[in-house]
Amino acid sequence: MNILEVKNLVSQLNTEDGVLHIINDVSFAVKEDECFGIIGESGCGKTMTSMSILGYSDRIGLKAVSGEILFKGEDVLKFSKKRLREYNGKEAAIILQDPMQALDPLFTIKDQMIETIRRHQKVSKKEAEKIMIETAESLSVAKEKLNCYPHQLSGGMLQRIVGAMVLSCRPKLIIADEPTTALDVTIQLQYLKLLKRLQKEYHTALIFISHDIKVISMMCDRIAVMYAGEIVETGTRDDLFYHPKHPYTQALFKATNIDGNIRERYETIDGAPPNLKEEIAGCPFAERCQYATDACISGKPEVVKINDEHTVKCRRIADE
Ligand SMILES: Nc1ncnc2c1ncn2[C@@H]1O[C@H](COP(=O)(O)OP(=O)(O)OP(=O)(O)O)[C@@H](O)[C@H]1O
Ligand SMILES: [Mg+2]
Repeated sequence: MNILEVKNLVSQLNTEDGVLHIINDVSFAVKEDECFGIIGESGCGKTMTSMSILGYSDRIGLKAVSGEILFKGEDVLKFSKKRLREYNGKEAAIILQDPMQALDPLFTIKDQMIETIRRHQKVSKKEAEKIMIETAESLSVAKEKLNCYPHQLSGGMLQRIVGAMVLSCRPKLIIADEPTTALDVTIQLQYLKLLKRLQKEYHTALIFISHDIKVISMMCDRIAVMYAGEIVETGTRDDLFYHPKHPYTQALFKATNIDGNIRERYETIDGAPPNLKEEIAGCPFAERCQYATDACISGKPEVVKINDEHTVKCRRIADE
């Protein structure tokens, strides 16, 4: 069963410099219970996609021009303010890169966690405290730490606390947007293993966003590759590692083994992603693609289905 279906989403950001074409016909589905990865280089639209799924588009000035974001079949883009308040945090929640964005420096962790739990669940203070302690323990956060203020704790501990805060509301969908880039490597690994274990234990769907292939391959069953506001390929981890079809995916995955070891020196792709100020007539990767033809530059490629899980948006594959 799919918990989330993003269908042909097109979103634009109105800035002082004009309209930016941020999300350009994005479609993907996430099953309840799975860890779904979105990988792509900086600026390709990963965070904007997360914000849209959480119903924050309006708040950040992002306008959905067309498409749907179906959460259990209900379109998030059509949610009323009231429905959005129920949805955020309780049904869908986000873990951000910087835990301080989710915490208030002026209150203890305990006060903030209890407040968050009670905002989303009708429980007494005592029951909320019980949920808090249980969840904190599952993330290896000692009880005493809960009496601290955020500035008294390390980055790794704060990230676990934010994880506990999100999980304590038992959301059905969690988006983790580069949750470990601010942590050092050993702590990062520890945190990712915990998150993965809890995702399975709580039967939560997790959308895991990163630009790091190693991390994505460790966490995710299925992966979508994003480039300049488009999903260019989706597939299982094995599909993308062993049978990547899109030239961008091939370049991205070529340098890494499935176990995360570097296979060869990272081959950089010449050129830069397109300017989002202009609407792109064809494939966004065409300018950098060694196989591109005139048709790739002038028209959008269709989505080609390789198998039930594996899809690719590339004219070269369509023409095969
Ligand atoms: N307020 C803004 N004004 C202008 N451009 C913006 C604004 N916010 C985002 N953008 C642009 O929107 C695009 C998508 O941004 P987004 O934050 O989703 O990228 P990302 O894939 O999450 O990148 P990163 O890996 O660096 O987090 C980027 O090109 C960014 O420059
Ligand atoms: Mg981002």
